[in-house]
Amino acid sequence: METKTKTIGILTSGGDCPGLNAAIRGVAKAAQGQGTKVIGILDGFRGLVENRMMMLEDKHVSGILTTGGTFLGSSRDKPHKMPMGGTEMDMTEVAIANARKNHIDCLVCLGGNGTQKNAMRLHEAGLDVLTLPKTIDNDVAGTDITFGFDSSMAIATEAIDRLHTTASSHHRAIVCEIMGHKAGWLALGAGIAGGADVILLPEIPYDLEHVVAHLVERRHHNKRFSIIAVAEGAVPKNDKNRAERAQPQEEVEGLIQEPVASRVAREIQQAAGIEVRYTSLGHVQRGGSPTATDRLLSTRLGTKAGELLHDGVYNVMVGINGNDCVAVPLAEVAGHTKVVPPNHPWLKTAALVDTCLGDKIEFKE
Ligand code: F6P
Repeated sequence: METKTKTIGILTSGGDCPGLNAAIRGVAKAAQGQGTKVIGILDGFRGLVENRMMMLEDKHVSGILTTGGTFLGSSRDKPHKMPMGGTEMDMTEVAIANARKNHIDCLVCLGGNGTQKNAMRLHEAGLDVLTLPKTIDNDVAGTDITFGFDSSMAIATEAIDRLHTTASSHHRAIVCEIMGHKAGWLALGAGIAGGADVILLPEIPYDLEHVVAHLVERRHHNKRFSIIAVAEGAVPKNDKNRAERAQPQEEVEGLIQEPVASRVAREIQQAAGIEVRYTSLGHVQRGGSPTATDRLLSTRLGTKAGELLHDGVYNVMVGINGNDCVAVPLAEVAGHTKVVPPNHPWLKTAALVDTCLGDKIEFKE
């Protein structure tokens, strides 16, 4: 059967991550193989608005499976609120007009939560779209997992491993700040895999006394070092400014906030009287080559997108449900964030190996 989609545009938007090039390759090779033209749009939605595009041929998507970042470039620009010469403008109509001018039947958007919302807005304004869930944060609704997460978790785990040897040599506590925006998946996954002694997540506001008691208890058992994995969105219990604090990396009232790892290290040092250091992994977590798991996931999601495009299935996100790649209506994804639920099995796993999760937790059967 002939493909229902003659031409697609593909863009990558939001923070980059390992696996983006593998996903572009998966979509492009599957689409090209069924006779669909593939146009690469540069620098996310900004490239769509500015009509900066390139025809992608096989040579452009060969040899990129293992490379980090996105060769198309990315930006955090949104079509409906785009900075243009000093003012923010609604460029939705321009974005759609450019898609039409280039005969794009469906715009394929690779991105996280912001991208899912922007794609939904374009769909509501009349453009057909299809999305893939990309983010190291693993916080996109409608999918068990996002690509980029596994690679980032591997990097953060290796960092925790390395912190262990130096913390142990100096008998120190080391606080390690891990990305994840307002979700704790990355800190929890890497914290368990790296054997962190304390894991602090946005989903469980931490009680400093509880954390300090755990660290002191470790000392009593002659464990003279500790590793504290802290999600960048972690917040203390009873924090009046909690809503503001849960905006990692952002400016609040013109002031850059103190990194959460620095704050936690200071709090622990003062309260427990032990020597503490902190480190923030930052964008190291988003760099470099994707893991085998992410290469496989990106390729599966990308090629499934190719199948859906062939059949003319639009306005969905390609997600993972168990062992399957599934089409999830975009309306069920956009505007929803998947945080770590209170009864998630990983939390119980962490508790069973005596990892402090910042506060007392009761697991319901
Ligand atoms: O969403 C991915 C992410 O890396 C978050 O974990 C983090 O909060 C944010 O992006 C950092 O954004 P930027 O690269 O714009 O500083």
